[in-house]
Amino acid sequence: DKGTYPHYMLKEMDEQPAVVRRITQKYENEAGQLTIDPAIQQAIQEADRLYIIAAGTSYHAGLIGKQYFEKLAKIPVEVHIASEFGYNMPLLSKKPLFIFISQSGETADSRQVLVKVKELGYQALTMTNAPGSTLSREADYTLLLHAGPEIAVASTKAYVAQVAVLAITAYVVADQPEIELKKELGIAANAIQSIIDRKEEFAKLAESFLATTRNAFFIGRGMDYYVSMEGALKLKEISYIQAEGFAGGELKHGTIALIEDGTPVIALATQKEVALNLRGNVKEVVARGANPCIISMEGMEEANDAITIPHVHPLLSPLAAVVPVQLISYYAALQRGCDVDKPRNLAKSVTVE
Ligand code: M6R
Repeated sequence: DKGTYPHYMLKEMDEQPAVVRRITQKYENEAGQLTIDPAIQQAIQEADRLYIIAAGTSYHAGLIGKQYFEKLAKIPVEVHIASEFGYNMPLLSKKPLFIFISQSGETADSRQVLVKVKELGYQALTMTNAPGSTLSREADYTLLLHAGPEIAVASTKAYVAQVAVLAITAYVVADQPEIELKKELGIAANAIQSIIDRKEEFAKLAESFLATTRNAFFIGRGMDYYVSMEGALKLKEISYIQAEGFAGGELKHGTIALIEDGTPVIALATQKEVALNLRGNVKEVVARGANPCIISMEGMEEANDAITIPHVHPLLSPLAAVVPVQLISYYAALQRGCDVDKPRNLAKSVTVE
């Protein structure tokens, strides 16, 4: 039930702070420490490499998960698009563990990979929002996302839940994680709330940047690159604006040719060590006529930034940085008269390969 909300997507974006808090509670032991099922912890720790398999938004969450496992737990990770993995299987390590990330737990592309890896005798863990789903039943282990039902075709709160659960999992399996994750998740939840409370700003921004455009670019470096890909997918699927998410440094290797007078470029600048380079990329596109919209983070903001989000831990910045791009996409779709919750040609769960 969407209650008083005009769209499920809006309701689900609003739920995101509560989702992060709920996950923190669900993954807490009696002593208040973050924890996961010890059998899953052991399976991950015994693996010599993790293979994350997912599609769409869940794939974008997986790219962030790789950073968590590698940076916090020092476990090598490969992230693969489910539909490609079946016929483009990489050489596997000696003791792989497969992690399937799927909101619905029913995505056929992911399921065919799961069937294949089970046939090969490997262990699999499913991270899903749907207990009892096919991917959950057929894997050895399940970690739940606890996002509550997600109805809008465009995934929002499930993405935030996936990123949070990936962070918790990597943190728990890490030897000496260099982050106070529970505290930082609380800070991220508050940051999301304060962004959501500024909805009108995003509505206005969408109106001035995206009302009539045919295309748009999202750029970022590091963690922001992955959020850029997610931003582009969100905008494409609900507003039908052709959008692409790029690594800031990659644009000049070809795609910058597409920049014309007024082309919207949404630039994410939440990562301190690459902020200067990213701002350099913004200058490059502005010099070719682009209309920039910089989303920066407190402590790194500059005078003409369109949006500054509250400061969160750099590893958790996707949790906060994704919210402006979700909201901008939502308002762009709304203003362009699109069916936000049920975009054309799409189904909530994709059960064909
Ligand atoms: O249920 P899943 O997480 O397996 O779904 C994967 C994708 O189909 C899904 O994330 C899709 O990309 C969304 N519509 C994006 O908003």
